[in-house]
Amino acid sequence: MDTSLKESPAWRALQDHHDVLKNTSFSSILLTDQDRIETFKCHCEGVHLNYALNTVTQKTLDLLVRLANQQNVREACDRMFRGDKINLTENRPALHVALRQQNDSPIFVDGINILDQVRTTQKRLTETVEKIRSGQWRGRTGKPIHHIVNIGIGGSDLGPRFAVRALDTYVSALDLHFVANADAFDLLSVLKKCDPESTLFVVVSKTFTTQETLLNAYTARQWLIDQGGDKGLDRHFIAVSAQPEKVKQFGIPLDQTFPIWDWVGGRFSLWSAVGISLALAIGMTHFQQLLAGAAAMDHHLSHTPFEKNMPILLALLGIWQRNFYHTQAQAILSYSERLREFPRYLQQLEMESNGKTVTRDGNFTDYATAPILFGECGTVGQHSFHQLLHQGSDIVPVDFIGIAHDDLYHPHHHHVLLTNMVAQAGAFAFGQLHAATPHDIYVGGRPSNMIVLDRLDPYHFGILLALYEHKTFIQGVLWNINSFDQPGVELGKRMARDLQEKTTPQSETELFLAKFFNKNFPNINKP
Ligand code: F6P
Repeated sequence: MDTSLKESPAWRALQDHHDVLKNTSFSSILLTDQDRIETFKCHCEGVHLNYALNTVTQKTLDLLVRLANQQNVREACDRMFRGDKINLTENRPALHVALRQQNDSPIFVDGINILDQVRTTQKRLTETVEKIRSGQWRGRTGKPIHHIVNIGIGGSDLGPRFAVRALDTYVSALDLHFVANADAFDLLSVLKKCDPESTLFVVVSKTFTTQETLLNAYTARQWLIDQGGDKGLDRHFIAVSAQPEKVKQFGIPLDQTFPIWDWVGGRFSLWSAVGISLALAIGMTHFQQLLAGAAAMDHHLSHTPFEKNMPILLALLGIWQRNFYHTQAQAILSYSERLREFPRYLQQLEMESNGKTVTRDGNFTDYATAPILFGECGTVGQHSFHQLLHQGSDIVPVDFIGIAHDDLYHPHHHHVLLTNMVAQAGAFAFGQLHAATPHDIYVGGRPSNMIVLDRLDPYHFGILLALYEHKTFIQGVLWNINSFDQPGVELGKRMARDLQEKTTPQSETELFLAKFFNKNFPNINKP
């Protein structure tokens, strides 16, 4: 057991403070800091966080900042930016920040300046993206490329998929599709829309061993063969991987393979060549603006005092809810249809990073770590699960995400979105104490943060993603866990592979029978 965190002075002070605050109504909390709407906020280059409707006082914030100091958050950030091997179970740095670094200051990993590798790859990426977007890259029958199909899963899918949708108003020239699921329906429903002569498959897999991705890549290859034989297949594939030899065995030439390095975690990899589908969709200039936005957040993280530091505050507010109010879930409610994929993206980012109960020192935690994250678009969720958020037996902290500027030029729609967002946050906080029937009584006090982007463009979107990346990392530091590995997912993968070896595709109905379990897991019913 790692009890040191819970017994540490900063944690104990927070606990004592919480013991007092938990009996204080939210309206009294609001009265203690009357100008909180003006003070409980911070900014980074056109992205704004207001946490006035969170259940915190100035004292809570002071104590949370004390926790961040106690847990050496500043030093942890410095170590990440420097390229120290902070992913200690895999003995690697976590250097996604290097991928968006705006200057060429060297960063050395095992004596090699990785900035050289980054710049070389970015140059190749630019050339390829421009060739494809301009129509110079031709399919095997001479047609320019029109459809891009990104085949990948997890970090090799969720980031590019989310970003292509979020930046939809910047997408031009090509039709983008994403395939992740091993269910053939996913690929087949995309292939139905594609012309084999003008389709390019982008196979993204850091390991190039991920079963779902290889399955889909081989089926896509077969589709091309069925449509026009096996000549010139390479005109229809590019790859992104840390395993070029495996890519070559699949049949994609080296000069169409982009590297990703083991110092980039899959869920932090959008900024690398893993983002090629996004770059193809929005063009390199916009892709560079995305990187610049993320770099602005990196600068904010490393140069802003904790009291005004957006990712550090977001992380601390999450810990306050999770570990002191013992909330179990976190909702992400984006008042933008283009941000619909945000919860899915964040589920991997936060739950794969911090869904762990072993500390960096190898002890079991005796405190909770990552909450269950879910979400939906406002206003859609309001007509579905918000009832539970308003009056359910669980308190679920919410992050509202809104966009200030209406770039769709439909002011009525935009007005409805933003007023609903503010109304929901108000209802969560203040509730309705005087009502005719108990059913209508609503005690409020349900915490939320509000994050508003000036505009939904590549730059501000880059800031938003880097904000949550850093929030995730900082929470890992505070909980003393390694946010950059994912050992838990391996067992399920191994068991599935074993079962596949023991069975044939014809025997799938057996999978549902008890005898199947008895045969393959003979100990299942034994104590
Ligand atoms: O199984 C989990 C995982 O390893 C994720 O961490 C990763 O993003 C995903 O699978 C895909 O991995 P790869 O890029 O190696 O195919």
